[in-house]
Amino acid sequence: MASIVVTGGNRLSGTVTVGGAKNSALKLMAASLLAAGESTITNVPDISDVHIMADVLRGLGARVSREEHTLRIDAAELTSFEAPYEFVAQMRASIVVLGPLVARLGHARVAMPGGCNIGSRKVDMHIRGLTELGVDITLGHGYIHAEAPAGLHGAHVILDFPSVGATENLLMAAVLAHGVTTIENAAREPEIGDLVDFLVGMGARIGGRGSSTLVVEGVESLAPVTHRTVGDRVEAGTFLVAGALSGGPVSVRGFDPSHLELVLVKMEAVGCEFEMHEDGATVRRAGAVVPTDVATLPYPGFPTDMQAQFMALMAIAEGASVITENVFENRFMFADELRRMGAEIVIEGHRALVRGVSQLSGAPVRCPDLRGGAALVLAGLIADGRTFVQDVQHIQRGYEAFVPKLSALGADVVMTDD
Ligand code: UD1
Repeated sequence: MASIVVTGGNRLSGTVTVGGAKNSALKLMAASLLAAGESTITNVPDISDVHIMADVLRGLGARVSREEHTLRIDAAELTSFEAPYEFVAQMRASIVVLGPLVARLGHARVAMPGGCNIGSRKVDMHIRGLTELGVDITLGHGYIHAEAPAGLHGAHVILDFPSVGATENLLMAAVLAHGVTTIENAAREPEIGDLVDFLVGMGARIGGRGSSTLVVEGVESLAPVTHRTVGDRVEAGTFLVAGALSGGPVSVRGFDPSHLELVLVKMEAVGCEFEMHEDGATVRRAGAVVPTDVATLPYPGFPTDMQAQFMALMAIAEGASVITENVFENRFMFADELRRMGAEIVIEGHRALVRGVSQLSGAPVRCPDLRGGAALVLAGLIADGRTFVQDVQHIQRGYEAFVPKLSALGADVVMTDD
C-alpha cells in the first residue's frame, strides 16, 4: 500500500491546472450507453474511479479506449445488462448505469451499493423515481432488477432531497421515455449541467438546466456525441486551500470559479485574498486565519466535498468555528485523524466545533475517504515535522497526480511504497 510523506513548512507558490471533474466524467461515461455508437469525452481525469467505470462499461459490452485525457466509448452493441457487485462495491457511483441501461435495453441488473464510510447513502430516491417512470423494480440477492419491456413513460417526480445521483439516474432514464418528465427538487450541481449539455448534444430535449426543475421531453433515440468534461471544482478548491494554508500565491486554472463561489466567499471571510481569472483564481494569505462557521448544503451551498479541506484551514484559525455537515451523516472521520496531528475538534452529532491551534504536528495518519485523505496531506503541509499519510488509494480515486502537482508548487511531499 502506498503512503504519502509530507514534510511541513514549505511555502507553496506557482500555478496548478486541474483536470476534468471526476463527478461529471463518471456520469458522462454512463450516459454514453444511451447511443448506439462511439462517443468521445475529453478532459477525463486519469484516476482509479474512471478506470473502474471503464471496466463497468466494458462488462456491459462497450468498447472503451483512452488516449491521454480523451476517452472513446463505443456502445454500438451492448452484450450484458448487469453491473456486478465486484465493481459496485469498489465504486458506488456505478449505480448511475441503472437509468441509461433500462432506458436503452428495457432491463438492467445492478448490484446494491453497500454501506459507505461517509454515511449509509441510500438509493431509495433512485428507485422511487424510476418506478414512477414505469420501471418495474425488484430487489433480491443483493441486486436491483429493473424491467421496462414496453419502455418508460414520462412522469412528475419530486425528490425528497436534491440528490445528485438520483437526479442523474432519472435524467438518463427520462431522455428516452415516452412523453414528458418533470424532475422537481433536482440537484443543481455544475456536474449536472454538464450532463445536461452532454445529453442535449446527443439529441435529448431538456429544459431548466441549472435550476431545480428539469423538464425532459423523451425522444426515440440518441446519437453519439463529442464533449469536454467540465473542470473539477473540488480539485480546484483543494489546491486553493493548500495555497491558503501555506500563504501562496497559488494560481489554480482549468475550472470555472463561479462553480466555487461560496467556498471563495468563505475563504475571503477567513482572511484569504483572491484574484479572479476566467478559468480559475489565485489565492494568497498574509494575515492570520480568522475563524468562521460553515454549513454544507446542496449546490449552490457549501459543498460537502470541501468540508474536510476547510476543517484543516479552521484547525489553525485564531479562535473557534462550527462546521455543520448537512448532506452526509458520519462525514467527520477526518476529524479523528486531524486530532492526531494536534487539532482541537469536538464532534456533536452533525456539528464539529474546531478550536484553532497555533501549530499542527506531523503524525502517522490514515485516509478515511477521498476528500478527508487529501485534507490530511494539506494539513501535513503546515505541520511541524513529517506526516505519514497511509491508505492513499482513497486519494488516487479522485486526484490525478496529486503528489507531483503539490511538488511543482514547492511542497516537500513524496509517495512511497510502504
Ligand atoms: C455525489 C458525489 C459526491 C458528493 C455528493 C453530494 C459523485 C460520484 N459523488 O454523491 O462526491 O459528495 O454528490 O454533493 O458524483 N440519499 C438518500 N436516498 C437516495 C439518494 C441519496 O437518502 O436515493 C441521501 C444520501 O444518503 C446522502 C444525500 O442524500 O445523505 C446526498 O446524496 P447524493 O446527492 O445522492 O450524493 P451522491 O450522488 O451519492
